Amino acid sequence: MQSIGWLKGFFESGFYEKYWGWKYTADETRQLAEDALKLLGAQSGHILDWCGGWGRVSIYFAQKGMKVTILDFMVEYLKRAEEIFDQNKLDVTLVPADCRVTPSWIQADYAACTFCSIGFYNDREQVDAFRSLYGALKYGGKFIVDCMNRDYMARLLKPVGEEKRRDGYSFRQNNDFDKTDGILHSSMEIRDAKGALEAEHEFHQRIYRPEELRALLVSSGFRVDEIYGDYSGNPVSDGIPQIVVVASKPGH
Ligand SMILES: C[S@@+](CC[C@H](N)C(=O)[O-])C[C@H]1O[C@@H](n2cnc3c(N)ncnc32)[C@H](O)[C@@H]1O
Repeated sequence: MQSIGWLKGFFESGFYEKYWGWKYTADETRQLAEDALKLLGAQSGHILDWCGGWGRVSIYFAQKGMKVTILDFMVEYLKRAEEIFDQNKLDVTLVPADCRVTPSWIQADYAACTFCSIGFYNDREQVDAFRSLYGALKYGGKFIVDCMNRDYMARLLKPVGEEKRRDGYSFRQNNDFDKTDGILHSSMEIRDAKGALEAEHEFHQRIYRPEELRALLVSSGFRVDEIYGDYSGNPVSDGIPQIVVVASKPGH
């Protein structure tokens, strides 16, 4: 299995939460969860939040009446998920595991993988991960997954992205997108209101074209039902940064 030490370090250092944790409101996240369920056609049943972190999204799946299982390799995130679900008096099953070897006993009706949580490995290992997920779904099960769109990145990604938060903190991302391999190499930094560097980290991720992601999912056994450009169901395009795919595990 490919070493992803830098990736675990990225999450374990707390950088991920510091950099992205503040960006989406509870209302935006609830909307994302509801839109994902709508695109899946899920009104009830068991959903696996694959690489689900602390259940940022799946707490809203549970509030909609879904039975939730969260898989993640970060035990700290799963502990936090347990607390959040407990506080909301909702049940959750937690699976501390590497998504490349998703346990087949899960047998969910649906799976969701939100917020660009794929592309951290080479394509062969990404297929292994999808294949193990396929085994963890029931026949007739459905999967929704999002990532960034390589065609958009190649055309419109800025070499530097910067956002300022209300408290004066700035979040800067220097991007080096390898158009040949489709790999985004970034370095990110967080500076306080006085401009002092508070934290920095590098980040690497394989970014897919819609057809590349389709091919990986099909190689893993999935049937690709739809490819959208966002969770509202708009068409995919090289002018929209996101890809959202709905795929199925065909019935017997
Ligand atoms: C970008 S975060 C998204 C978390 C969650 N889906 C959300 O929308 O808030 C990616 C998540 O994937 C998890 N992750 C990354 N690689 C993993 C792997 N190989 N196995 C299991 N979890 C992994 C990280 O721990 C993290 O929680």
